[in-house]
Amino acid sequence: MNESTNPPENIVLIGFMGCGKSTVGRELHQRLGYPLLDMDHVIEKRAGRSIARIFEEQGETAFRDMETGLLRELVDPDSPRRIISTGGGAVVRPENRNLLRKLGYVVWLQAPPAVILDRTSKNRARPLLHTEDPAARIRQLLHEREPLYQETSHLKLDTSGLRSDEVATGILECARYFFTQRP
Ligand code: S3P
Repeated sequence: MNESTNPPENIVLIGFMGCGKSTVGRELHQRLGYPLLDMDHVIEKRAGRSIARIFEEQGETAFRDMETGLLRELVDPDSPRRIISTGGGAVVRPENRNLLRKLGYVVWLQAPPAVILDRTSKNRARPLLHTEDPAARIRQLLHEREPLYQETSHLKLDTSGLRSDEVATGILECARYFFTQRP
């Protein structure tokens, strides 16, 4: 457990849909033994419906409010260290970016647009990509969000061509260094 005087030491995974946040999150959870909190899963569980249905029935703003509410809860100095896997749009609100940085070590997982398209086309779970031209939507959202991922993260890592255990090893080394150097 963290001392309440110490800043939180979570490892937080951010990045676009299909960049491997959930898979790498599970790998880090297995390696470190810290609990894994997948924000989308928590939101779905609380809402009693899938993300796609939340978007459909309550709208994107309601989903974003749930995301912000959950981030506010997580910034609790007494909560245990965790691996936190976020949804791809968690960086869109300035308040969220501030909360994410407070949570600990923030890692931006990346992949090229073609890899994202291939990975996300395998299911219909992503309402933002339910469009005529998902490839164009991916390019547009990446263009809007890349500066936000950049500003929020301590480390960025391209996951394409790497196994999830290799990505996890890189993150663990860098996170260890970050937490020991932090004032
Ligand atoms: C979203 C990404 C999704 C999910 C929701 C919105 C986004 O999470 O939170 O569909 O705005 O990019 P993943 O990044 O885990 O797919």
